[in-house]
Amino acid sequence: MKTTFALIAAGLGCLGAGAAAAEPSLIPWPVTVEARAGGFTVANGTTVCAAGDAAATAQQLKDLVKAVRGLDLKTGCAVKGKGGAAIRLVLSPAAPVSDAEGYSLDVGPSGAVLTARNTTGLYYAAVTFSQLVSSDGGFGTSARVAGTHIADYPRFRWRGLMIDSARHFLPVPAVKVMIEQMAQHKLNTMHWHLSDDQGWRIEIRRYPELTKIGAWRTPPSNGGPGSETEPYGGFYTQAEIRDVVAYAAARHITIVPEIDMPGHAQAVVAAHPALSVPGDQPKVSADWGVNWYLYNTDQDSVAFVKNVLDEVMDLFPGPYIHLGGDEAIKNQWKASPKIQAQMKVLGITSEDALQSWFMEQMGQYLAAHGRRMIGWDEILEGGVPPSAAVMSWRGTQGAITASRLGHDVVLSPASILYFDNLQSRRDDEPAGRLGASTLSQVYNFEIMPPVLNAEEQRHVLGAQANLWSEYLLSPWYNEHAAFPRVDALAEMTWSQPSSLSWSGFLHRLPAQMQRYRHQKVAAADSAFAVDFQLPDGRNAALDAGGGVVMLVNQTAFGRIRYTLDGSEPTVRSALYAAPLNLKFGAHIKAAAFSDDGLPLAVPRAYDFDADTLLARSSNQLRACPGGDLGLRVPLTADSTAAAPAYDIDIFHMCHVYPQARLTGIASVRVDIARLARNYGLANDADKVRQYPAKTQFGELVVLEDGCQGTEVARLPLSDPAATPNRKTLTAPLPAADGVHDLCFMFTAPISGPFYAIDTVSLVRK
Ligand code: ACM
Repeated sequence: MKTTFALIAAGLGCLGAGAAAAEPSLIPWPVTVEARAGGFTVANGTTVCAAGDAAATAQQLKDLVKAVRGLDLKTGCAVKGKGGAAIRLVLSPAAPVSDAEGYSLDVGPSGAVLTARNTTGLYYAAVTFSQLVSSDGGFGTSARVAGTHIADYPRFRWRGLMIDSARHFLPVPAVKVMIEQMAQHKLNTMHWHLSDDQGWRIEIRRYPELTKIGAWRTPPSNGGPGSETEPYGGFYTQAEIRDVVAYAAARHITIVPEIDMPGHAQAVVAAHPALSVPGDQPKVSADWGVNWYLYNTDQDSVAFVKNVLDEVMDLFPGPYIHLGGDEAIKNQWKASPKIQAQMKVLGITSEDALQSWFMEQMGQYLAAHGRRMIGWDEILEGGVPPSAAVMSWRGTQGAITASRLGHDVVLSPASILYFDNLQSRRDDEPAGRLGASTLSQVYNFEIMPPVLNAEEQRHVLGAQANLWSEYLLSPWYNEHAAFPRVDALAEMTWSQPSSLSWSGFLHRLPAQMQRYRHQKVAAADSAFAVDFQLPDGRNAALDAGGGVVMLVNQTAFGRIRYTLDGSEPTVRSALYAAPLNLKFGAHIKAAAFSDDGLPLAVPRAYDFDADTLLARSSNQLRACPGGDLGLRVPLTADSTAAAPAYDIDIFHMCHVYPQARLTGIASVRVDIARLARNYGLANDADKVRQYPAKTQFGELVVLEDGCQGTEVARLPLSDPAATPNRKTLTAPLPAADGVHDLCFMFTAPISGPFYAIDTVSLVRK
């Protein structure tokens, strides 16, 4: 229990009067943490002793402490007494731990002893020890580690993260950063999405065209600076894959490769048109969404996939191979006389059942080679191979259904564990899906569906989060999306439900944010970044020329400090204790700090004036049908640089500025962006609304009192081929009083580029 530490510490009287024992900043929180007398200091040169098979873990402990604390430990087992080993690693089959992955860790006056049955448990003990040493967030200085007894083991066997290298290629060093951080969180399964419509990323020696053609796409251009039309892509050679598999294995992480089938197959069909159902040769897809290309189901195609799986099984030694199975819309199979004839011969009466037949061929092939198939929950449709495990992504129902049918399941429900969903709705978030999947939502997700009985619960292997990369353009985006939500994921998959505590977690997170900083991992600070809120509304402040400004953050955690003189807030700046009453012209800068003064987020600034309050960025606009806009997309197609991002509704090039205060307004200025992509129109094209245009390239139409209201401006859009991708349009507005919803509607052809709004600004007379 989490309270044990404070209670026992107080009972031992080893702390100063009235001091509460701070919980050590451990994530995930262990099963048992008890305070003990004594403790010792870890410094440069402190020795780590390990014999036999534990030697490699001793080196890893040294690396971990260097990474998170900046101290150089020494490996060696000097005689106890003068300079005796301070940290001892003990591998013993008889170790008194409760689980094969378990460990115990004891810290006393003469040092620390880490004990486990095998190197996996010992590695987890090393991770915990490195967190004890870095529990105060410091770096490069010696660290006092308090007397402690820890006994620990995981709640779930599958503690996973999915990396999508298909949509945006993640170079090997960046994959290793993700693996190292997974390991520092005791995650043990990396699901690697290696094929999709937009790219085939794994070298298959028998079929070189797969990477020669299938690993490259031509991004669409949006015509402006930074637009890319050079081939985009990349793939992993077999040598690189073996290197990554070994790197992960050394950190006790198994990689589950995914070859997606029968859908998400456009890149493979582009490389091998013989697999094409309609008999054409598409290009590797350069857009997102659900595309039509499926694998063919004839004997040659089945043989092709089995040959691919031979090489995949050779590269990845783990028990599971992921075969996708998601979002295979069956238009091509329905339209193919050959496939319809094959279905008759096989006695198969639906295309869903044909998918099941196809998947079963592969599942049996894997089983014959001692492996197990896992697939997305669509594999439940039309019957699922008995040995298959199911990954539930469309909520948790797939997990419930599958475990009741006796299949093992992994939970990775959208949107909560889809880490391509934004961490907040702040306007400084990079691209991603809307709405947000916040740190607290992730933390509070309970993996075990309560409706399952004990027998069914045994089929729940665990959970994983998915880093789909349509909007994660580069390693930086992956890190920003993953961390610190991975901390919540780690705790939910490892820690006992009785010890989960959102408040305790938050108090342990500042040190972890420091670990990210020290390791140059681009963890998002969205959960702690200061938001500036006007409780009386923007229009009331405009009426009054000032008003109440509240400084808050998403988690309501930390002490917010601020300045009004333009200087950067520090731990000594004014403490925000109550709403501020300010006049227009105030420049606020604010940041949150932990109780111990560790910075939680970089400072954010706010100019409290009429111009700020009259402007709306795209994430402050509404979709025309109402609600969320759906996606926050980057300006450029595949740029690896941090790109500006805009909220859009892919079905409506139309936005509403609600409750615009038009009193005293002369004109409207709209900063627009022309995007490179026409997001996901393939299977969804008929849902896209075309607003009527009057000129060749369309216009931006401004309407007052909603989208059925009065047209007050129609601003022509110019030829995309001859116009920069960002532009400012302005129009005078007729004199008006009071508040009105303003509608901004692009009438550009939907077959062409997508237009987004960056900012709408009302300009005063
Ligand atoms: C999925 O998100 N298509 C598994």
